Amino acid sequence: IQSLSIFDDFTASDIEHTSQYMSEKKYIQNSFIFMEGDIGDKLYIVLSGNVEINRFEHGKKCVLSTLKEGDIFGEMALFEDGEYRSANAEVLNRAVLAVIERRNLQGLLVTNPGVIYKLLATVIKRLRKANDRIHDITFLNVRERIYKQLLCLAEEYGIKLNQTIMINLRLTHQQLADMVGCTREMVSKVLAELQADHIIGVNKKRIIVKNKPLLMDKASSYE
Ligand code: CMP
Repeated sequence: IQSLSIFDDFTASDIEHTSQYMSEKKYIQNSFIFMEGDIGDKLYIVLSGNVEINRFEHGKKCVLSTLKEGDIFGEMALFEDGEYRSANAEVLNRAVLAVIERRNLQGLLVTNPGVIYKLLATVIKRLRKANDRIHDITFLNVRERIYKQLLCLAEEYGIKLNQTIMINLRLTHQQLADMVGCTREMVSKVLAELQADHIIGVNKKRIIVKNKPLLMDKASSYE
C-alpha cells in the first residue's frame, strides 16, 4: 500500500499501523463486489485490476466510471450513514482490493486527517468528470463523444509506444458504447472510420491512438 497516493504523506510506521485495519480481498473477473441498493459499510481501494462502476436500467448498462490501481470507491454509502450503494461495482478483470471497514476508517481519519483531503480530492475529481459528462451529453453529438472518450481513455490508461498511445484496457465495442451512452453499432462504425483514416489501430482488443492531434481536432470540430 506504500505506493497508493492516498497514503502519500504516511511514514513507514503509519503504513504499518494502517495495514492492521485493512484486509486484502481477491475477486474473479465479472464478479460483483456489491450491487446498487446494498447497504454499505466498507471502503475499497483498487490494488490491482479494473473495477467498473455501473448502473442498469431495463437491461441496458450505463458505465459511470472504470477504476484502476490506486482508485478509491464505496465512500458514498460509507459516509452517509445508513445509505445505500449508489451503483454496482463489477470486476472487469481479476482484481485485488484493500478493504477498510467503517469502524476502522473513523480511527484512521482521526489519526491521519490528511486522508480526509485525499478522499475529498477524489470526490471533487469525480464531480468534475460528472459535470463534463453532463456537458458532453447536452452539447456534443455521438461521434464527438466517442472521440472524446478515446482521448480520455488514452489520458488515463495510455502507455506511450513510440509516437502512438496504447490504451491499456481490453475494451469491447459494447463497453465503449456503455461509457458513451450510444449503440454498439455506432461505436463499431466510428472505430472502423478512424482505423481507415489511420487515426487509431486495434491490437488484441486494445485500441492504439496513432494520431492524437487529428483525433483532438475531430473531437472539437466535428459538424
Ligand atoms: P457507493 O455509493 O458507496 O457505491 C458505489 C460507488 O461508486 C460510490 O460509493 C462511489 O465510490 C462510486 N461512484 C459513484 N458514482 C461515481 C462516478 N460518477 N464516478 C466514479 N465513481 C463513482
